[in-house]
Amino acid sequence: MKNNIFKQFPILKRKINGHPLIYLDNASTSQKPLVVLQALQNFYLNSNANIHRGIHTLSEEATEQYENVRAKVAKFINAKTEEIVFTKNATESLNCVAVSWGRLHIKKDDEIIVSALEHHANLVPWQELAKEKKAKLKLIPLTADYLLDLKAYEKLLSTKTKLVCVTAQSNVTGSLVPVKKIISLAHKFGAKVVVDGAQSVGHSKTDIKNIDCDFFVFSAHKMLGPTGVGVLYIKRALMDEMTPYMYGGDMVETVGQEEATYHRGYMKFEAGTPNIADVIAFGGALDYLSSVGLDAIATHDKELLVYAKKCFSKYSSVKIFSPSKIENCGGVLSFVIEGVHPHDIATIFDQEGIAIRAGLHCAEPLVRSLGVSTTARLSFYLYNIKHDIDMAEKALKKVFTVFKIKN
Ligand code: ALA
Repeated sequence: MKNNIFKQFPILKRKINGHPLIYLDNASTSQKPLVVLQALQNFYLNSNANIHRGIHTLSEEATEQYENVRAKVAKFINAKTEEIVFTKNATESLNCVAVSWGRLHIKKDDEIIVSALEHHANLVPWQELAKEKKAKLKLIPLTADYLLDLKAYEKLLSTKTKLVCVTAQSNVTGSLVPVKKIISLAHKFGAKVVVDGAQSVGHSKTDIKNIDCDFFVFSAHKMLGPTGVGVLYIKRALMDEMTPYMYGGDMVETVGQEEATYHRGYMKFEAGTPNIADVIAFGGALDYLSSVGLDAIATHDKELLVYAKKCFSKYSSVKIFSPSKIENCGGVLSFVIEGVHPHDIATIFDQEGIAIRAGLHCAEPLVRSLGVSTTARLSFYLYNIKHDIDMAEKALKKVFTVFKIKN
């Protein structure tokens, strides 16, 4: 990766507990480059106005900047601009699909397939929808190598299947999911597919047209953008078969005392004043990611993962939950140490200035299926280097010393 990347992230110069910060919690949220921080400041300093409403110059400028980012997002994932809806996060995007599409299209005894890799955001809305409609939830199980069992998936599919919900990359095991194959199999039965791209979009190339998915969601904050911005891709033809998710200003066409009519297309899903400044700053993140290159980032993540697995698997007390082949892995490493609670691992790492996550990772059924109560997790991004992993190994040795673990 380019040497100047580090300079774009001033937070990485911070000291934590007397040590230089090593940030390995990127699956949770990423750090923000200067281009994003400057875009945010620049908007409030020079262009702040509400959008889609003003006749004045400032409002028109803000509208143009906001709509330019919609076009940038579309280009980034190879979709059409009119297929992009802004929400507040990936979770809201998924809830929008469950409410706006699900309530109209899921009926009693229909089947919704979810995978065993799902984050709560791509599970709980479908549980609720299934309950409400008396539909059934079916589960794609995992193989012993932490991958989706595609043979089992094929057996689950039938004309009863109306929706398939899968992540593109697990936030716990890093497992990559062959979404294109999953989608084409679902389409043979007329089912729609929603893909949670929160962990993948900022780390590898996404081509919506190529995978042909129906709904695709992600969050800006995991890909160098600000918090409070989510994206919902909806295949254009499906938008007209959906009700609005929220009602109010901006999404309406005409409003009478008794009833109202609504815009068609993406405008129907963006009620009220949106998160204008953060969407505009997200544009800076997309430009920055494109300039570094998604292929370079994917390669870098994999290199770090290979190195981390080599360093951590030397110790017999460490158990790693990750697919065996690197082509099936994103840059995430979950592990446990026999006899040590993952929260204690994270605390000792933090004493060394290393930020990692420990817990259920908002994916309780998946973590429980691994046979553990929680895991510790390292997750990488473009500003991480091998030295970060060397420091993580040093912290690991400190855990062994504190807990008198023999390897
Ligand atoms: N989904 C986020 C994580 O994996 C919060 O940490």
